[in-house]
Order: sequence, then structure tokens, then C-alpha cells
Amino acid sequence: MNTELLAAGGPALSPIVAGAWRMADWHLTAAQRLRWIEQCVELGVTSFDHADIYGGYAVETLFGEALALAPALRERLQLVSKCGIRLVDRARPAHRVKHYDTSAAHLIASAEASLRALRTDRLDLLLIHRPDALMDADEVARAFESLRAAGKVRHFGVSNFTPAQFELLASRTPLVTNQIELHPLRREPIHDGTLDQLQRLRLRPMIWSPLAGGALLAGGDAAARRVQAVLAEIAASHRVSSATVAFAWLLRLPSRPLPLAGSRRIEALREAVAALALRLDAQEWTALWQAGSGQEVP
Ligand SMILES: NC(=O)c1ccc[n+]([C@@H]2O[C@H](COP(=O)([O-])OP(=O)(O)OC[C@H]3O[C@@H](n4cnc5c(N)ncnc54)[C@H](OP(=O)(O)O)[C@@H]3O)[C@@H](O)[C@H]2O)c1
Repeated sequence: MNTELLAAGGPALSPIVAGAWRMADWHLTAAQRLRWIEQCVELGVTSFDHADIYGGYAVETLFGEALALAPALRERLQLVSKCGIRLVDRARPAHRVKHYDTSAAHLIASAEASLRALRTDRLDLLLIHRPDALMDADEVARAFESLRAAGKVRHFGVSNFTPAQFELLASRTPLVTNQIELHPLRREPIHDGTLDQLQRLRLRPMIWSPLAGGALLAGGDAAARRVQAVLAEIAASHRVSSATVAFAWLLRLPSRPLPLAGSRRIEALREAVAALALRLDAQEWTALWQAGSGQEVP
């Protein structure tokens, strides 16, 4: 599995990206974390998604510790991180209220802290994690330019932005993606212009929680159970797993999303990668849309 361009000028990422959000919950040793990274790479999953805040500001350090055991591996990886959220956390005693901060000073300091924690000299991609009502687009553009000129960050994008918010920042600085939540239980980006905008601009979305955090496969409410039943039916007809079908549902979209797989189990990563070889037809795709929404398309 080779890397693919996220946007015309890069970055090149693996078509399935590994998400590191939950890594602190896995309670692995540094050697076990390294083994997880290496097994991802063996599957062709060479891109890793981070954020400064993951694991209470701890995950980037855990990943960097593992990478320090095999520093040459860095050249085979693409590292993505995010910034702009300030959590109330033991690690940040000055924060009284969870809030957003897209000031140039914070974006630059946060990116530099990510580099130190990940033990790398550059990020392949940095995203503004959430839209910030107090965001000054010119100031963000200046921060991005300064990080780019210093060679610290190669490309920039956003996450969870509406099309209007994306348009505003893109009017000041080049953006390569909008990382959004999308699955049959959260279909809004298909209908609110988010995916249309990205397809128009030939920028590929990154998709977080592609399995709704596991709810597409077990548990959940009535809608989740409807989706689970249809996934199982389609999976049986193709002799693949339900998770593979859930990833294939995203990969079928013409904006060509890159899903983020969030499992610690390599078998789950393998099921995600298997979706690259499965093309759902329009009826299968729509049956899953319908299971999520509870009604047929108009
Ligand atoms: N930009 C944002 O705002 C944002 C927000 C949230 C997440 N993210 C990114 O998106 C990544 C993925 O999110 P996610 O972890 O919620 O993804 P997900 O793939 O929807 O959910 C993964 C979770 O589902 C569980 N699961 C249960 N059965 C599974 C199966 N058969 N196959 C795979 N997983 C199964 C996994 O547990 P096991 O580990 O036991 O398999 C894991 O806890 C994160 O790591 C993070 O990088 C971004």
C-alpha cells in the first residue's frame, strides 16, 4: 500500500491512517508501542494522527518514547498533529475553563511542544483541532507561515470546520484537509456542503471515529443496531468483516476520504486496510445510509 496525495501539493499519506488518540488507555510499554507502530507500517499504515491534548497531553510523548527506540523509522512515517484546544487538566494547571486558543503564540508553542514530544524535527501536517469563535484568520496564517518557513511543519489544515469556517481560513492560507466525523450514524457532512466543498477544491477529507467509536459494531441505540444488522448482511455477502464494510462505506465517497483507524488491535487495522479492495455498489451504500437515518432517501 503506497502513500497518496491528500491535496495536489501534498502531503502524501497512507490511505488508512492510524489514530493515536486512545494510546494512553492501552497501557503498553514503550517496546509494545513500537511493535504496534511497526505492525501498522508492515500493513502499509504509515501515517499517524495525533493531537497535543490526546491522553491528557500524554500520547505524543508515549509515541515519541517508542520512536526513540528505533529512530530510523521516522523517515518511513508521516506524522499529523493538532492544536488549538486548551483542556482543564492536571498537566495544564493554568487552565480554568476548557477553551480554544488560535493565537499565533499558542499555535507555534503547541507545534514546537508536539515536535519535542514526538521526538521529531518536523510534522507532515498540523490541523486546527476545532473552530474557534475568536480565531483571527490573518494571525493563524502568519503562524502557519512562520512554522512552514522554519521547516517545522510541512502542511496545514483544519478539523471540525463548517464550509464557511473553512472558506474563511482558506482565503488567507492554503489548507489541505478538513478532518471530520463521518459514518452512517453521522451523515451531516454529506448533506451540509462539507464534502462538496472538499471535492470542489480537490482536497481529501480525513475521517475520525469511522466506526463511531465502536458503536457500528456493538452496543448503541436502535439506529446503531439497524446499522450493525445491515453491515453484517453486506459483510456476509462479500465474506469480509462488518468493520471492513464500514470503512468501504467511507472510501466509496467521491471526495476520497482517508479514514483514521483508532484500534490498538492490529487485526482491526487489517480489517480497515481490507476495505481498500472492496467497492460497495450504490444500493449497498444507500442501505447503510438508510439504516443510519431510519428512512429511505427522498
Ligand atoms: N479531529 C477530531 O476532533 C478527532 C476526534 C476523535 C478522534 N480523532 C482521531 O480519530 C481516530 C479514530 O477515532 P476512534 O478511535 O474513535 O475510531 P473508531 O475506529 O471509530 O473507534 C475505535 C474504537 O472502537 C473499538 N472497536 C470495537 N470493535 C472494533 C472493531 N471490530 N474494529 C475496530 N475497532 C473496534 C476500538 O477498540 P479496540 O482498540 O479494542 O479495537 C476502539 O476503542 C483517533 O485515534 C484520533 O486520531 C479525531
